[in-house]
Amino acid sequence: MLPGGTAGLAAAILAVVNPGDRVVIPDPTYSLYADLVNMAGGAVVPVPLAEDLHWDVSALSEALVGAKLFVFCNPSNPTGIVHSRPELEALASFVSGSDTFILSDEAYSELVYTTEPFTSALELPGLRDRTIYCQTFSKSYAMTGWRVGYLWGPPEIMNAAARVHGTFNGSLNTAVQHAAVVALEQCRDDVEEMRRSYQERCELMYSALAQIPGLTVRPPEGAFYLFPKYELEIPSAQLTAELRSFGVAVRPGGEFGAAGEQHLRLSYAASPEHITAGVERLAAGLSELARR
Ligand SMILES: Cc1ncc(COP(=O)(O)O)c(C=O)c1O
Repeated sequence: MLPGGTAGLAAAILAVVNPGDRVVIPDPTYSLYADLVNMAGGAVVPVPLAEDLHWDVSALSEALVGAKLFVFCNPSNPTGIVHSRPELEALASFVSGSDTFILSDEAYSELVYTTEPFTSALELPGLRDRTIYCQTFSKSYAMTGWRVGYLWGPPEIMNAAARVHGTFNGSLNTAVQHAAVVALEQCRDDVEEMRRSYQERCELMYSALAQIPGLTVRPPEGAFYLFPKYELEIPSAQLTAELRSFGVAVRPGGEFGAAGEQHLRLSYAASPEHITAGVERLAAGLSELARR
């Protein structure tokens, strides 16, 4: 166990990636991956997502040739989409016969709203033996401040990751480990109640965003983010800064990769009242900025 997904991702990437290694990541994706690969001296290969925010499978299959590692999150931060079993099967076929490892960050695996059940990379025989699985208690159990997560994967990689972890962090404190066991053993019903509540908030935010002219939003599938595309000709960092003066804080899509430009990332990990007020302010801000 280690201090959250952040420490798991760091230990895994620093254990696997040597200077010059090619590491493929979707674009946009959680920004920590590229930061860690750069820190390890690897070469980041971003692969832009398709229009529907799922993988562009033909671009992915080309990029994966000769890659040391593919890192992705499922469900995805920032897009809020869930990679389906057929997508994961396609990934398995692309890496079949290669030495490419997969780092599957499944931080949001309990927060899925699709009709199809969630598929972990570990469920696919073609992925399981080459997958480093990274999990955290931050999202499923709302234990972000407790700092607890874990890795699972090929023994030689786990040994190397444990050395990185032991060097950087040392052991996780005992009280937190006990709390994590309680979460696993006693909180199943709470997790489902939380998932339902997120789903309601998600629908509230999605239906309100869908009414805003100049925004295109994909139907949500998981995590607690929506990633609408906007039409204004303003870089996402500037738009985010401008929106602050309308009383709403969102994240610029470009922060998650160059292909995230023209998008905003919104979180619905907030009360229904705040979601409603936030989307109203966003609508007012976008309409005012469009007039300028
Ligand atoms: C996809 C993803 N992975 C990992 C993390 C890290 O979370 P933590 O370090 O709190 O476990 C986050 C946090 O936002 C995330 O969005």
